[in-house]
Amino acid sequence: MKTIHVELGDRAYPIVIGEHAMHDTAHLKRAIQGSTVLIVTNDMVGPLYAQQLVETLKAIGKTVHVHMLPTGEQYKNLETLNTIFDVLLQQQCDRRTTLIALGGGVVGDMAGFAAAAYMRGVPFIQVPTTLLSQVDSSVGGKTGINHPLGKNMIGAFYQPQLVLTDLNVFATLPQRELSAGMAEVIKHGAIYDAAYFEWLEANTPKLMRKDSESLVHAIVRSCEIKSEVVAQDEREGGLRAILNFGHTFGHAIEAGMGYGEWLHGEAVGAGMILAADLSQRLGMLTANEVERIRRVVQAAGLPVEPPQLGIDNMINMMKLDKKSDAGYIKFVLLDGIGRAVIRDVPEDVLRATLHVCA
Ligand SMILES: NC(=O)c1ccc[n+]([C@@H]2O[C@H](COP(=O)([O-])OP(=O)(O)OC[C@H]3O[C@@H](n4cnc5c(N)ncnc54)[C@H](O)[C@@H]3O)[C@@H](O)[C@H]2O)c1
Ligand SMILES: [Zn+2]
Repeated sequence: MKTIHVELGDRAYPIVIGEHAMHDTAHLKRAIQGSTVLIVTNDMVGPLYAQQLVETLKAIGKTVHVHMLPTGEQYKNLETLNTIFDVLLQQQCDRRTTLIALGGGVVGDMAGFAAAAYMRGVPFIQVPTTLLSQVDSSVGGKTGINHPLGKNMIGAFYQPQLVLTDLNVFATLPQRELSAGMAEVIKHGAIYDAAYFEWLEANTPKLMRKDSESLVHAIVRSCEIKSEVVAQDEREGGLRAILNFGHTFGHAIEAGMGYGEWLHGEAVGAGMILAADLSQRLGMLTANEVERIRRVVQAAGLPVEPPQLGIDNMINMMKLDKKSDAGYIKFVLLDGIGRAVIRDVPEDVLRATLHVCA
């Protein structure tokens, strides 16, 4: 077992990573004060892993309820959220009840928001079951749901008491979801740590084979990087924005293709290559560095070419993205691998990068 301490003052908490981490009774006992627990999962992950977690919690004397949400991003909405409150109230759960999210980012974001809001805040634990949720959505405290007019528009910052990252969940994780998580892993190296990026260049094939030792290293280093960035800027005043590397392009691809067509990580994979190309045009990356980024994205089984959505269409969608300001578009770019900077980009240079979308 490896433990990372996320340093957020009185809201600091541990991330425990290892085989059987979800059965770590010592950490569970310490984190759960009350006697009642509600596990929130979905109807895909629940049948695979909920029973094991229930038994572990019962073994430490807890009363356990399980609530299964329908599976899919389309259910990350107010109506589904409300079913969590229904169960909490029907079971007469008090403010000492702990909510445990068992699932990917969709379940984590919804259960986290429910925990933030129920009785103005009850304890919360994450058991993330996708690589993306282990390295990204379970770190940093963003929780929330979608609104018909915008993704992730309703939510709260709310930190968990504990994150348990159990390596056994990789046994059932589809390869496509593994690749999608790799986009965020590669991003962490690219924006923050050149040595980690080099390690990923050498070890991505092992990660794609779900080699345990390599997965632990990648999850640990990615969580460290994300939590370091978040600890310096919890509410995204500045630095935290570097975590959006590849995302301005990625969000345009996701929206342009219709949500659900490309996975978020797939869009970010192609988006990072566009952002690298843009960095090269502005004299901050060499052709060789851009090629290195392309190769590692490709090795992770992610698309390296954006879809042909058209230059004007891409620009219009990027201007709609919440990270754009007054007409010009801010981009997270790389000034060498391992160093992210935020710049306003002239439209003619942006158009040159987007010629591949024409
Ligand atoms: N809060 C944040 O900071 C943050 C950051 C990034 C993404 N997100 C959010 O996270 C969500 C995406 O999360 P995700 O990529 O984990 O997708 P997801 O939660 O939709 O999970 C992907 C699919 O894999 C299934 N699954 C999960 N674990 C499995 C396992 N071990 N075995 C078999 N199947 C499994 C799920 O049921 C689902 O069908 C989005 O809603 C996004 O907005 C939040
Ligand atoms: Zn992302």
